[in-house]
Amino acid sequence: MNTEEFISLSEEDTIALGAKFAERLNVGDAVALTGDLGSGKTEFIKGICDYFNVEDIVNSPTFTIINQYHGEKNKEEIHIYHLDLYRIKSPAELSEIGFSECLHSDEIIKLIEWAEKAGDFLCKWDYKVNLNLSDDDENLRQIIITTN
Ligand SMILES: Nc1ncnc2c1ncn2[C@@H]1O[C@H](COP(=O)(O)OP(=O)(O)OP(=O)(O)O)[C@@H](O)[C@H]1O
Ligand SMILES: [Mg+2]
Repeated sequence: MNTEEFISLSEEDTIALGAKFAERLNVGDAVALTGDLGSGKTEFIKGICDYFNVEDIVNSPTFTIINQYHGEKNKEEIHIYHLDLYRIKSPAELSEIGFSECLHSDEIIKLIEWAEKAGDFLCKWDYKVNLNLSDDDENLRQIIITTN
Protein backbone atom coordinates (compact mmCIF):
# COMPACT_ATOMS: atom_id res chain seq x y z
CA MET A 1 0.00 0.00 0.00
CA ASN A 2 1.18 3.48 -0.87
CA THR A 3 0.00 6.74 0.69
CA GLU A 4 0.27 10.27 -0.70
CA GLU A 5 -0.75 13.55 0.92
CA PHE A 6 -1.95 16.70 -0.83
CA ILE A 7 -3.12 20.08 0.43
CA SER A 8 -6.01 21.83 -1.32
CA LEU A 9 -6.59 25.53 -0.69
CA SER A 10 -9.81 25.87 -2.66
CA GLU A 11 -12.69 24.03 -4.29
CA GLU A 12 -10.89 24.50 -7.63
CA ASP A 13 -7.73 22.89 -6.22
CA THR A 14 -9.73 19.85 -5.13
CA ILE A 15 -11.36 19.52 -8.55
CA ALA A 16 -7.91 19.79 -10.19
CA LEU A 17 -6.52 17.13 -7.83
CA GLY A 18 -9.45 14.85 -8.71
CA ALA A 19 -8.78 15.32 -12.43
CA LYS A 20 -5.06 14.61 -11.97
CA PHE A 21 -5.84 11.53 -9.87
CA ALA A 22 -8.20 10.22 -12.58
CA GLU A 23 -5.26 9.82 -15.00
CA ARG A 24 -4.31 6.66 -13.15
CA LEU A 25 -7.76 5.07 -13.03
CA ASN A 26 -8.50 1.96 -15.03
CA VAL A 27 -11.88 0.63 -16.08
CA GLY A 28 -13.22 -1.50 -13.21
CA ASP A 29 -11.44 0.39 -10.42
CA ALA A 30 -13.23 1.20 -7.16
CA VAL A 31 -12.42 4.44 -5.30
CA ALA A 32 -13.56 4.73 -1.67
CA LEU A 33 -13.99 8.35 -0.53
CA THR A 34 -14.20 9.23 3.15
CA GLY A 35 -14.25 12.45 5.15
CA ASP A 36 -16.61 14.75 7.02
CA LEU A 37 -19.72 16.41 5.62
CA GLY A 38 -18.59 19.14 3.27
CA SER A 39 -15.00 18.00 3.13
CA GLY A 40 -15.05 17.93 -0.67
CA LYS A 41 -15.72 14.33 -1.71
CA THR A 42 -18.19 15.40 -4.38
CA GLU A 43 -15.88 18.16 -5.64
CA PHE A 44 -13.06 15.64 -5.98
CA ILE A 45 -15.42 13.38 -7.94
CA LYS A 46 -16.36 16.31 -10.19
CA GLY A 47 -12.66 16.51 -11.08
CA ILE A 48 -12.52 12.80 -11.88
CA CYS A 49 -15.59 13.18 -14.09
CA ASP A 50 -14.10 16.24 -15.83
CA TYR A 51 -11.11 14.13 -16.77
CA PHE A 52 -13.42 11.58 -18.40
CA ASN A 53 -15.37 14.31 -20.21
CA VAL A 54 -18.60 13.46 -18.41
CA GLU A 55 -21.35 15.83 -19.49
CA ASP A 56 -23.96 14.65 -16.97
CA ILE A 57 -24.47 16.81 -13.89
CA VAL A 58 -22.28 15.46 -11.09
CA ASN A 59 -24.01 15.75 -7.72
CA SER A 60 -24.15 13.66 -4.58
CA PRO A 61 -26.76 10.98 -5.29
CA THR A 62 -28.11 11.35 -1.76
CA PHE A 63 -31.63 10.18 -2.50
CA THR A 64 -30.97 7.70 -5.27
CA ILE A 65 -27.79 6.12 -3.76
CA ILE A 66 -26.32 5.56 -7.23
CA ASN A 67 -25.88 7.97 -10.13
CA GLN A 68 -24.62 6.68 -13.46
CA TYR A 69 -22.49 8.81 -15.75
CA HIS A 70 -21.10 8.31 -19.21
CA GLY A 71 -17.78 9.69 -20.27
CA GLU A 72 -14.99 8.89 -22.65
CA LYS A 73 -11.23 8.57 -22.77
CA ASN A 74 -9.24 8.10 -25.99
CA LYS A 75 -12.52 7.50 -27.88
CA GLU A 76 -13.40 4.64 -25.52
CA GLU A 77 -16.69 4.94 -23.67
CA ILE A 78 -16.27 5.07 -19.88
CA HIS A 79 -19.07 4.11 -17.48
CA ILE A 80 -19.01 5.54 -13.96
CA TYR A 81 -21.14 4.77 -10.91
CA HIS A 82 -21.24 7.50 -8.26
CA LEU A 83 -22.52 6.06 -4.99
CA ASP A 84 -23.29 7.92 -1.77
CA LEU A 85 -23.78 5.68 1.26
CA TYR A 86 -24.54 8.52 3.68
CA ARG A 87 -28.10 7.37 4.25
CA ILE A 88 -27.26 3.71 4.69
CA LYS A 89 -28.17 2.78 8.27
CA SER A 90 -26.67 -0.68 8.35
CA PRO A 91 -24.39 -2.60 6.00
CA ALA A 92 -27.27 -5.07 5.50
CA GLU A 93 -29.08 -2.38 3.48
CA LEU A 94 -26.27 -2.63 0.98
CA SER A 95 -27.46 -5.99 -0.27
CA GLU A 96 -30.81 -4.37 -1.13
CA ILE A 97 -29.12 -1.93 -3.48
CA GLY A 98 -26.89 -4.62 -5.01
CA PHE A 99 -23.73 -3.07 -3.62
CA SER A 100 -21.66 -6.20 -3.93
CA GLU A 101 -22.58 -6.77 -7.59
CA CYS A 102 -21.87 -3.11 -8.22
CA LEU A 103 -18.45 -3.33 -6.58
CA HIS A 104 -17.53 -6.26 -8.79
CA SER A 105 -18.70 -4.84 -12.12
CA ASP A 106 -15.45 -4.90 -14.04
CA GLU A 107 -16.62 -2.62 -16.83
CA ILE A 108 -17.43 0.30 -14.58
CA ILE A 109 -15.44 2.81 -12.50
CA LYS A 110 -17.00 3.04 -9.03
CA LEU A 111 -16.70 6.22 -6.92
CA ILE A 112 -18.09 5.63 -3.43
CA GLU A 113 -18.77 8.50 -1.01
CA TRP A 114 -19.13 7.64 2.69
CA ALA A 115 -17.43 4.33 1.90
CA GLU A 116 -16.86 3.72 5.63
CA LYS A 117 -20.59 2.98 5.93
CA ALA A 118 -20.06 -0.19 3.91
CA GLY A 119 -17.95 -1.75 6.65
CA ASP A 120 -16.73 -5.20 5.64
CA PHE A 121 -18.89 -5.08 2.50
CA LEU A 122 -16.20 -2.90 0.97
CA CYS A 123 -14.21 -6.03 0.17
CA LYS A 124 -12.64 -4.63 -2.98
CA TRP A 125 -11.09 -1.20 -3.46
CA ASP A 126 -8.23 0.12 -5.52
CA TYR A 127 -7.88 3.60 -4.02
CA LYS A 128 -8.99 5.30 -0.83
CA VAL A 129 -9.30 9.09 -0.80
CA ASN A 130 -9.69 10.65 2.63
CA LEU A 131 -10.44 14.38 2.89
CA ASN A 132 -9.94 16.27 6.13
CA LEU A 133 -11.24 19.68 7.14
CA SER A 134 -8.92 22.13 8.89
CA ASP A 135 -9.65 23.88 12.20
CA ASP A 136 -7.76 27.00 11.10
CA ASP A 137 -8.78 27.60 7.48
CA GLU A 138 -12.29 26.93 6.18
CA ASN A 139 -11.00 26.45 2.62
CA LEU A 140 -8.11 24.13 3.39
CA ARG A 141 -8.39 20.38 2.91
CA GLN A 142 -5.82 17.68 3.55
CA ILE A 143 -6.32 14.93 0.97
CA ILE A 144 -4.75 11.52 1.56
CA ILE A 145 -4.74 9.01 -1.28
CA THR A 146 -3.99 5.38 -0.49
CA THR A 147 -3.29 2.97 -3.33
CA ASN A 148 -4.10 -0.66 -2.62
N1 LIG B 1 -10.39 23.18 -0.55
C1 LIG B 1 -11.66 22.85 -0.77
N2 LIG B 1 -11.94 21.69 -1.41
C2 LIG B 1 -13.21 21.31 -1.63
N3 LIG B 1 -14.30 22.01 -1.27
C3 LIG B 1 -14.09 23.18 -0.63
C4 LIG B 1 -12.75 23.65 -0.37
N4 LIG B 1 -12.85 24.83 0.28
C5 LIG B 1 -14.16 25.08 0.41
N5 LIG B 1 -14.90 24.11 -0.14
C6 LIG B 1 -16.38 24.02 -0.12
O1 LIG B 1 -16.72 22.89 0.65
C7 LIG B 1 -17.85 22.25 0.08
C8 LIG B 1 -17.51 20.81 -0.27
O2 LIG B 1 -18.71 20.19 -0.65
P1 LIG B 1 -18.81 18.70 -1.18
O3 LIG B 1 -20.25 18.53 -1.55
O4 LIG B 1 -17.78 18.40 -2.20
O5 LIG B 1 -18.48 17.88 0.16
P2 LIG B 1 -18.79 16.35 0.45
O6 LIG B 1 -17.61 15.83 1.18
O7 LIG B 1 -19.18 15.66 -0.79
O8 LIG B 1 -20.04 16.47 1.45
P3 LIG B 1 -21.19 15.40 1.76
O9 LIG B 1 -20.63 14.50 2.83
O10 LIG B 1 -22.32 16.24 2.26
O11 LIG B 1 -21.50 14.65 0.51
C9 LIG B 1 -18.27 23.05 -1.14
O12 LIG B 1 -19.28 23.96 -0.76
C10 LIG B 1 -16.98 23.81 -1.49
O13 LIG B 1 -17.22 25.05 -2.12
MG1 LIG C 1 -20.92 14.63 -1.35
